[in-house]
Amino acid sequence: MSRLCALAALVLVSSGTWCPCAADVGDFAPCLHFFYKAWPPKGLTGTPICQRYHNQYRFASLYSRARRSPWFSAYLYTAPEGKRPSASWKFEPQLAYPGADGNMIPFPLGPLDQNVVDSQAVEPDYINSTYSRGHLNPSLHHQSHEDRIGTFTLTNVVPQKAGSNDGPWEVLEQTVNKTLAAYCLGEAYVVTGIIPYQTDEHWLKNHRVAVPEYIWSAYCCPNYNSSLPEELRDAFPTYAAVGRNDRNSTEEIVPVSQTAKKHFRGYDVRKMPLGTLEMYLNDRFRTVVSVFYEQCSGAD
Ligand SMILES: *[C@@H]1O[C@H](CO)[C@@H](O)[C@H](O)[C@H]1NC(C)=O
Ligand SMILES: *[C@@H]1O[C@H](CO)[C@@H](O)[C@H](O)[C@H]1NC(C)=O
Ligand SMILES: *[C@@H]1O[C@H](CO)[C@@H](O)[C@H](O)[C@H]1NC(C)=O
Ligand SMILES: *[C@@H]1O[C@H](CO)[C@@H](O)[C@H](O)[C@H]1NC(C)=O
Repeated sequence: MSRLCALAALVLVSSGTWCPCAADVGDFAPCLHFFYKAWPPKGLTGTPICQRYHNQYRFASLYSRARRSPWFSAYLYTAPEGKRPSASWKFEPQLAYPGADGNMIPFPLGPLDQNVVDSQAVEPDYINSTYSRGHLNPSLHHQSHEDRIGTFTLTNVVPQKAGSNDGPWEVLEQTVNKTLAAYCLGEAYVVTGIIPYQTDEHWLKNHRVAVPEYIWSAYCCPNYNSSLPEELRDAFPTYAAVGRNDRNSTEEIVPVSQTAKKHFRGYDVRKMPLGTLEMYLNDRFRTVVSVFYEQCSGAD
């Protein structure tokens, strides 16, 4: 334990709260409740981050240090209230300094610490690039203001084309919002991640942050209202989708609609059963990828 952490532990123990300290990076143990049956997706490897803001865990991400972007973020959906906050972007001090406090912190106005720059994406990576900052865990899927602000960490962000982020992907996030708010009666576990290019990785300028070819999302809502309207029969207990992030991609995974508005054309989202998504993930990651424990059908 570092001196800083020991000190924090002393202060917290004496005030009756537990100190998670360095456990926020490298271990999902303190934030397993964001996963269905406390079972993080299998088949993907990276650095687990228990995303902490204002001393509370908000969600979990599996981070790729090599790509300086997440493989996925996992969270519990809650129906949003109010407007999207205009939060400042944050970073994770514990990726740069193992003993550091696990709370995410806003980027400083002045020069950046080199260990922070080396360990993760920073704002200048995205500024003047041809990609927007795409939230994997979107602020829209959270009720509390603080949970929403907590999504504004670059460890929850991937380079996403604006035509996807403001177009079909946003529509998907809104559809999921409305569907879960209306018919999910218990917890809704969501995992949103990326599919890398098969060959020829794409990077933001400076070759620091890897660009995903596709973005995927799936949810698991084991306890739902079974009087579903016809069009939502396939939407429970699980549902999945894959979105294009590159107009040049082939159409095997997601076909392109020719009727979409020009700005959004080529950024289609295809909805599909969880099993179909897992088939594409297995194929691209060349290993068995399981998003939810027993495909979300495990008995309670
Ligand atoms: C972005 O581009 C502007 C105009 O070319 C330039 O002044 C600025 O320094 C660039 N910022 C970054 C972070 O690359
Ligand atoms: C999200 O769902 C809530 C709850 O049903 C609803 O009030 C809100 O309008 C929805 N927002 C969007 C952007 O879909
Ligand atoms: C389930 O959905 C039906 C039809 O939309 C609605 O009338 C009913 O109140 C819902 N039940 C619960 C428990 O939300
Ligand atoms: C798509 O292909 C065009 C033409 O070859 C190229 O200019 C563009 O950079 C490619 N886009 C991406 C995201 O690779």
